[in-house]
Amino acid sequence: MECEKRKRKYCVALYIRYVAAFFLVFFFSRLLQLWHSVESSFPNDLIIQSLSHLPPNITTHNEKAERNIIFVHVGKAAGETIKNILKAGCLARTARRRQEKCLARLPDSRLSELVSAYFHCFDVPRLKKLKPTSFLFNVRHPVDRALSWYGYIHPDHCKHMATPACKAKWQLKNEDTWVHRFFDCFPTAEEWFLPKTSHCRAIAQQAWKGSLDYREVPLAAHMIANYQHYVNNTIHVLPDSEILVVRTTDLWHDLKALDEWLGGTGRFGRGIEGTAVTHGSHRYANPVLNGTTMFAACCALLPELSVYRDLLAKAANLDQITKDLEREDAVKHCGSESWEELWESCSQLHSS
Ligand SMILES: *[C@@H]1O[C@H](CO)[C@@H](O)[C@H](O)[C@H]1NC(C)=O
Ligand SMILES: *[C@@H]1O[C@H](CO)[C@@H](O)[C@H](O)[C@H]1NC(C)=O
Ligand SMILES: *[C@@H]1O[C@H](CO)[C@@H](O)[C@H](O)[C@H]1NC(C)=O
Repeated sequence: MECEKRKRKYCVALYIRYVAAFFLVFFFSRLLQLWHSVESSFPNDLIIQSLSHLPPNITTHNEKAERNIIFVHVGKAAGETIKNILKAGCLARTARRRQEKCLARLPDSRLSELVSAYFHCFDVPRLKKLKPTSFLFNVRHPVDRALSWYGYIHPDHCKHMATPACKAKWQLKNEDTWVHRFFDCFPTAEEWFLPKTSHCRAIAQQAWKGSLDYREVPLAAHMIANYQHYVNNTIHVLPDSEILVVRTTDLWHDLKALDEWLGGTGRFGRGIEGTAVTHGSHRYANPVLNGTTMFAACCALLPELSVYRDLLAKAANLDQITKDLEREDAVKHCGSESWEELWESCSQLHSS
């Protein structure tokens, strides 16, 4: 009995210990499980988070990745298209509806991120305040740019009210306007480069050189705001800044390559890439000039041609082979073999 009693006491104590041990083991195993699950999920989350915050791989592209770029929109050289893929370009649109539409369609890109300001015509940016590192120019052969301007304001191309061509058509009615005198002398672009009288020659030169006041002749704004004007207001003010260039003739190739070069993906989206935004210039093509007229046009725009050549030569984003080809193509387009030959022939033309 004693024993029985003792035994029972002993058994109960033993039983309690077993139960306690069981719970202890159970408790610790749960704790261990919990710890494992925490351990396995915790670092994963961290990795996912830090990956999504990784900066673009700038080392593969180039080291000077921190840039503050101003887009210099040279007129009649596909600038409208570029404007539409830049946030700064959209914001520069003054009509609110056009601005909203532009922002809604804006593709994400490294280029758009880095371009902080937009410069077009006479709205000269305050460089001291903006402190840009780089200027991005859109460039096109000066003769093609000039022909595009001529077509853009030609009264025969008036289709929609308020376009420059219609404004020109309206101004033709008034003999006292520059536009009247201009189209009186030059009903075709060929005649503009081969003026027959000294009176017409003087008017032709005003357009070639852009030596007019844009407030008096707003229709000539794109000839007044020429390469020299844009360079004067950018690189000449900040000579140490970097020059970036996209060519109108290779627009999407250059934009994609530039975006990649800056550390981006080079993708602007299917509905955007390859498109062109114009003020209606797609409705008429530049005339094809014969050799004589083309040469005369190159001589007329020779100072512009050399600024254009220098911009291409200094472009940080173009490779040397491309630059050499462009340098050659620019004079071949004029019918010359070399820059020296072109200078020489033009000086003979001017002195004759
Ligand atoms: C980043 O650049 C380095 C150095 O060129 C390269 O080895 C690495 O693969 C690149 N990483 C990514 C994610 O592109
Ligand atoms: C550019 O600057 C030069 C020198 O300051 C000046 O002679 C020239 O008229 C300017 N040209 C334009 C188009 O602004
Ligand atoms: C080239 O075009 C101009 C202007 O249209 C014309 O006067 C000239 O005769 C043409 N020259 C040649 C060689 O065809």
